[in-house]
Amino acid sequence: MTDQTVVVRDLRDAPHFFDAVADRIWRAWWEPHGFPLSHITGLLQQSLAEEAESLCLVAHVEDRFVGTASVIASDLEERPDLTPWVAAVWVDPPFRGAGIGGDIVLKAAHAALDTGAEAVHLCALPGKRAFYERLGWRLDEKDVGTDRLDVFSMRRA
Ligand SMILES: CC(C)(COP(=O)(O)OP(=O)(O)OC[C@H]1O[C@@H](n2cnc3c(N)ncnc32)[C@H](O)[C@@H]1OP(=O)(O)O)[C@@H](O)C(=O)NCCC(=O)NCCS
Repeated sequence: MTDQTVVVRDLRDAPHFFDAVADRIWRAWWEPHGFPLSHITGLLQQSLAEEAESLCLVAHVEDRFVGTASVIASDLEERPDLTPWVAAVWVDPPFRGAGIGGDIVLKAAHAALDTGAEAVHLCALPGKRAFYERLGWRLDEKDVGTDRLDVFSMRRA
């Protein structure tokens, strides 16, 4: 970790981090399923163009990428009625355990709620349950889909 200040910004305001964000999302969630990097760069570009519905946050220290989280319309095919979602939460390993992941998740959730949504949703493997519950997410469902995911929500205060 570093003593330097971590800044969290909308990726639209820091587009030079686009490639780093796409790389991390691809490696974590898409490459293991055989998708090419171009698949996720396309999706990310599309999500940035859809101003009202999608958001991608990037955390950085000066020019160094630190982490990311997104707000997207749909993240779980078993729950097509729920929207929006916080998704693709990632912090680079050297920066983990210092509160950055928690901070970026909450900033993404609050940004989603600020657009007028009554609730924002998130799905995760059960191993992350303590992390999200500690941040104030409500566990709504367990064992959803073949990955047996937890589904959480956060509501406007
Ligand atoms: C999950 C992930 C985003 C967390 O990022 P992070 O920056 O380490 O998150 P935080 O630092 O906010 O919290 C992590 C842990 O550190 C603890 N922590 C937070 N601030 C701390 C501090 N100042 N000092 C010590 N520990 C701290 C938290 O309590 C939390 O503990 P827990 O794991 O027992 O819940 C990160 O591990 C990651 O990118 N993992 C791979 C991708 C992934 O799994 N994404 C989530 C998909 S649902």
